[in-house]
Amino acid sequence: VDERQNPYAPGAGTPPPALTGRDAEIKAYEVLIDRLKQGTAGQSMVITGLRGVGKTVLLNQFELITADRDWIAIAREFEEASSFPDKIARCIERVLSELKPTKKLADQIRTMLHGLGTFAVRDPQGFELSYTPGSAHSEDLLGEDFTDLLLAVGQAAQAKGRGVAFLFDEVQFVNPGEFGPFIVGLHRLNQKALPVTCVAAGLPSLPALVGNAKSYAERLFEYPRIDQLSEPDAWTALAEPALRLGVTWEQPALSYVFEQTAGYPYFLQEYGKYIWNVASDAVITEEDARTGGRSAQDHLDSGFFLVRFERRATPAERRFLHAMALCPGPPYATSDIMLSLGKTDQRSLSVQRDALIKKGLIHAPEHGAVDYTVPHFADYLKRRADW
Ligand SMILES: Nc1ncnc2c1ncn2[C@@H]1O[C@H](COP(=O)(O)OP(=O)(O)OP(=O)(O)O)[C@@H](O)[C@H]1O
Ligand SMILES: [Mg+2]
Repeated sequence: VDERQNPYAPGAGTPPPALTGRDAEIKAYEVLIDRLKQGTAGQSMVITGLRGVGKTVLLNQFELITADRDWIAIAREFEEASSFPDKIARCIERVLSELKPTKKLADQIRTMLHGLGTFAVRDPQGFELSYTPGSAHSEDLLGEDFTDLLLAVGQAAQAKGRGVAFLFDEVQFVNPGEFGPFIVGLHRLNQKALPVTCVAAGLPSLPALVGNAKSYAERLFEYPRIDQLSEPDAWTALAEPALRLGVTWEQPALSYVFEQTAGYPYFLQEYGKYIWNVASDAVITEEDARTGGRSAQDHLDSGFFLVRFERRATPAERRFLHAMALCPGPPYATSDIMLSLGKTDQRSLSVQRDALIKKGLIHAPEHGAVDYTVPHFADYLKRRADW
């Protein structure tokens, strides 16, 4: 079949040709925004999932839903080195200038901005903010400042009959000492039912991070976890886009791909892409699926997996990742990993463990155990010849 028409979309945040299995999360977000529009409080969301399950795709969907309701969506992605308050300062500037508050409200907001402890206004007429980290006890101060900033945003939005949704991605990279104060601010807004909400997406380590940040975060957020697609949803994700182009998947071909990918969205898109390209006519057979599937797997090994293994981890961290794959699991007990590495020193092991968590390559699903954040990573490591 024609490669130029290939509908599948492997990539980071690339919209899938059929978005399946996420109805519950999409509905929950619509309800949240509609409740806030009516002036009733709603829980913000923390969405977690492994690499490639579709967190970014879902956030992009939320952005569309937000815009449909004439709300302002502020979508931001964090990196290991990002300063959270700096980014928030930029976001607040953007929201305030987009909302264009009346002169009276703008003056009030500016007066408030001048009273902040950790942020300073750079221009007398506008809302340009700069952030200076405070002293050791600055978490409380930052919490007060975030509260004031979010109140300003909430009031400006409410005055215009609008609202604001912060859509944050890769939040596991945010420093808890900076995210906690933001939660304090959100909590205050929530009590006043002002039209501001936040969706934080990230790796499975995220709820612990948010939970540590503030004890009441548990009630402030809902915590949907997104995972592999169910078998029927995975089939639809593959079959529907093809059908629109007059191409049908035979059932054994679909079953084969599900078996190989376990329904992980990113893998489905890669398999779909390669299988489409080998199919010779408008019916995709099991043989096509096997041939194309092998190419897809080679491509994953030399791209998706390799990048995460070789470019992101140091040699010592790679030995740790290898050792995990040899242990019973998942999850993998740290005590087993230590044995497998022939180590007796818990301390040096925990340095690597913490570094790998920080880099987002592993997470700790329970006390004393870790797991990969990349699906099928253990299989990949076992496939590699260079042990
Ligand atoms: N519900 C879905 N149905 C079908 N395909 C999907 C779905 N969600 C995501 N995909 C596809 O999966 C791939 C990965 O999606 P996305 O980048 O959103 O994942 P992610 O969870 O943000 O990954 P990462 O943690 O690496 O950032 C994309 O190619 C996307 O098209
Ligand atoms: Mg993503």
